[in-house]
Amino acid sequence: MSKKPIGLFDSGVGGTSIFRAIHSLLPFENTIYLADSKNAPYGEKSKVDIIALSKKNTELLLDFGCKLIVVACNTATTNAIKTLREKFTLPFIGIEPAIKPAALKTNSGTIGILATKGTLSSELFNSTFHQHASHLKVIEQVGEGIVELIENGQIYSKEMEELLKSYMQPMISANIDYLVLGCTHYPYIIPMLRKLLPENVTIIDSGEAVARQTKNVLIQHDLLRTEENLNPKNEFYTNGKVSVLSEILNGDYPVTFKNF
Ligand code: DGL
Repeated sequence: MSKKPIGLFDSGVGGTSIFRAIHSLLPFENTIYLADSKNAPYGEKSKVDIIALSKKNTELLLDFGCKLIVVACNTATTNAIKTLREKFTLPFIGIEPAIKPAALKTNSGTIGILATKGTLSSELFNSTFHQHASHLKVIEQVGEGIVELIENGQIYSKEMEELLKSYMQPMISANIDYLVLGCTHYPYIIPMLRKLLPENVTIIDSGEAVARQTKNVLIQHDLLRTEENLNPKNEFYTNGKVSVLSEILNGDYPVTFKNF
């Protein structure tokens, strides 16, 4: 059973940032990644649609024989993970914006959150927000357009630069000292954000926390692959452009087109 793969899915190529964190902590695990780029962005869709797409991705990963599924998408987690856990019996790991660590560490008392509309308007996000950050000044910003540019392979573009400038300016004026990235696509824009933000602003994402949680849950269910295997299989499928997923993976892994 432990030889079976960990499944990951995202609305597109962004969840590969989660794959990287998991692969670096658990290098012997076999993995299967689904990039549902055809349906990106999830962040602009209704909860009902996000649940339907998440179920479809889960069913496909189950057909591949996955032992555990990582919902490598904040929007799918905050809108659909409850339903997935009710409907399917295998363990799920989700990802949410890291509000708690930012709220605990801020000195200025003002933090920024960049996430999709679907995440910021979800019940799960709002309950986490009230639990940890209601005493703080929080600048929420919908990252409209960012996912689309990344999905088009336009990370280092003029359009991206202009968009990020307009999103960061109000946060800089409000004196944030933490910026929480609430979308798995966004770690890929950290180099551009770093150029725009003052040095004292710490950028946090949830990748490493998700990897640690994945390890804990695998151990709890006796599913961790412990034997040394120099050739774990890491498979990548996309229903969008193979070149975009391949480029984001630095060409390190072959990508297969799959119509799902
Ligand atoms: N990577 C997804 C997330 O973490 C992007 C959402 C979208 O497709 O809008 O939220």
